[in-house]
Amino acid sequence: MTAKTLTITLPDDWHVHLRSGALLNAVLPFSARHFGRAIVMPNLQPPVVKTADALVYRQEIAAALPANSHFQPLMTLYLTEQTDPEDVKQGFLSGVVTAVKLYPAGATTNSAAGVKNIEAVYPVLEVMEAIGMPLLVHGEVVDPEVDIFDREAVFIEKKLQPLRVRFPKLKVVFEHLTTKDGVDYVKSCAQYTAATLTPHHLVINRNAMLVGGIKPHYYCLPVAKREIHRLALVEAATSGDARFFLGTDSAPHLDQAKLSACGCAGIFNVANTLSIVTQVFENNNALNQLERFTSYNGARFYGLPINQGQLVLERHNEPLPVPEALSLSQGSLTVFDPLMPVYWAVKQVITP
Ligand code: DOR
Ligand code: ZN
Repeated sequence: MTAKTLTITLPDDWHVHLRSGALLNAVLPFSARHFGRAIVMPNLQPPVVKTADALVYRQEIAAALPANSHFQPLMTLYLTEQTDPEDVKQGFLSGVVTAVKLYPAGATTNSAAGVKNIEAVYPVLEVMEAIGMPLLVHGEVVDPEVDIFDREAVFIEKKLQPLRVRFPKLKVVFEHLTTKDGVDYVKSCAQYTAATLTPHHLVINRNAMLVGGIKPHYYCLPVAKREIHRLALVEAATSGDARFFLGTDSAPHLDQAKLSACGCAGIFNVANTLSIVTQVFENNNALNQLERFTSYNGARFYGLPINQGQLVLERHNEPLPVPEALSLSQGSLTVFDPLMPVYWAVKQVITP
């Protein structure tokens, strides 16, 4: 019997943390192997705030790429209340910068320099709306009064909806959606709103993190929510709806930084993302929609061409082991364990 294979257009990752230095060198080959392009998050320390910073960071990534790699990093700027609209415009029009990332100050890793008063960045958003440049949003409020499990839903009502009304034609990507509220909101919007979904939020709910002991490898931001929310995310991803696409939010932290009394948020998943996502689609009888989610919807929203390359997936008869932790000189880096049987593996990547 011949093995079952599935060939799809080479995927893109519309949200990834590549870091810098030794960690960049360790994780970049995994992104470069399975993805044509990736939207690279700017939350370095110090953050990537100006076009000149993005250029330097892009050069660092290019230098770390394996020889003959076709992988294209798409750069983002970290929005601050000091961001110069002219710099953003020049960065976009010159092709150096693809999008701008909005972190509410204090929402997550390295977000201290983010935005406290959204009105302070309106001049930047006006320019972005005019030139068709996407705004990528970390959609959580930071108000200490708001329960961490409610922060996404409250963000929609208090922050996102007013922004949508004020800038109706601004392209907005609601990053790493974790709630049914978020899915319903994106579905209620017209063509200028989309969302990324991560592999981990498609397969785990908050029990993975909290039942049977506290499991730091399942801690990320926004935190995984209840099962009804996970099911809504799966429905959105597998439906073929053009507003939902893959963003891994792969966010590597060394194990010693995660396995701590105050562990870092982030899950490293690019080594097995395609296996996991394909399994989710198979489990939901939606393999025919996989390519839209991984390879079409994002490119269309961003107004970029569909990749030329292809990726061949193969279904094995036995569940595959979770990839081994990476062993770096500074410590180990654990790969995401989806806690479910995964039969699909990437067999081949065909580049043009
Ligand atoms: O879990 C997360 N990790 N969420 C974020 O928003 C940031 C990321 C990181 O950079 O570690
Ligand atoms: Zn992220």
